[in-house]
Amino acid sequence: MLTLAIETSCDETSSAVIKDGREVLSNIISSQIEIHRKFGGVVPEIASRKHIECINQIIQESLDEAKIGFKDIDLISVTRGPGLVGALLVGLSTAKALAYGLNIPIIGVNHIEGHVCANYIDHKDLKPPFTCLIVSGGHSYLVQVNSYVDYELVGRTRDDAAGEAFDKVARALGLPYPGGPFIDKLAKQGNKDSIEFPRVFLDDKTYDFSFSGLKTAVLNYLNQEKQKGNEIIVEDVAASFQQAVLDVLVGKSFRLAKSRKSDKIVIAGGVAANEGLRNMMEKKGKMEGIKIYYPSKILCTDNAAMIGAAGYFQYINGNESDLGVSVNPNLDI
Ligand code: KG4
Ligand code: ZN
Repeated sequence: MLTLAIETSCDETSSAVIKDGREVLSNIISSQIEIHRKFGGVVPEIASRKHIECINQIIQESLDEAKIGFKDIDLISVTRGPGLVGALLVGLSTAKALAYGLNIPIIGVNHIEGHVCANYIDHKDLKPPFTCLIVSGGHSYLVQVNSYVDYELVGRTRDDAAGEAFDKVARALGLPYPGGPFIDKLAKQGNKDSIEFPRVFLDDKTYDFSFSGLKTAVLNYLNQEKQKGNEIIVEDVAASFQQAVLDVLVGKSFRLAKSRKSDKIVIAGGVAANEGLRNMMEKKGKMEGIKIYYPSKILCTDNAAMIGAAGYFQYINGNESDLGVSVNPNLDI
């Protein structure tokens, strides 16, 4: 079964062709990052316009690379939320037009589920149930995935998403947007024990996260050191901040996995590309007898292949949208 997938929820215009939910025949990603970088974040109106300019060409490229034509597609899978409303509308309207013109089924999928499903592409043996940590620029969730279509939300951020905290701290350190990858790199050269930043576990009953206090603590530290005229060692700030985030993410993921007797932890979303997070998860996983899964770096950040996988698993489990499907910028998991 061939799925044509379209993703335009934020600043990547992406189209992919997926065979039977797990095999990528093409995954074309056109990133707008360079355009938004000078504004220090994504500008919604610019994002929508850029999607419109290139979506048709990106879809054609994904078909060409997969060596198929429109007539070969069995299903259209498209992100319907969460995301920027104008950006989502470009992808959904295009998908609807194609489904109508080709007379094939359409499925509108949840972007966050897409991040989870990226793992099915890279790990052909991976099957639910498993514990899943989803950490991206817009979201931080702890989810127990009971089946391909049953996502049980157990914890979420009460303020900033993990990736957002990385980006805000990076900005304060004068690093480019998005800052996560830069902090990751600098952290390797710094001393993670040099600055004592808070670990916000909230209380031990909840699986929720909170990162805004940590972000403020880093900003206060930078201001105080500047006022004192002290030199700021960027590598040490990056390493100490990152470790404070990871202690909470890893600690809560393992607590949930153990409470559900889960022998698998899956990481998903842009922050799953973080090497410190991957290493810490794997080290603890070996000690606790829990297997760790994460996608290749290109499938961690936004891409259409993961949307193709998510749409396929929804469809073969009996779910389908119709041409009345609408975007939902605030769609939850
Ligand atoms: O999943 P994604 O592409 O977009 C959303 O759906 O939000 O995630 C982007 C986020 C950004 O905040 C970026 O800084 C973060 O993922 N990120 C990282 C790394 N690579 C990307 N954060 C930490 N370490 C990384 N290596
Ligand atoms: Zn995303």
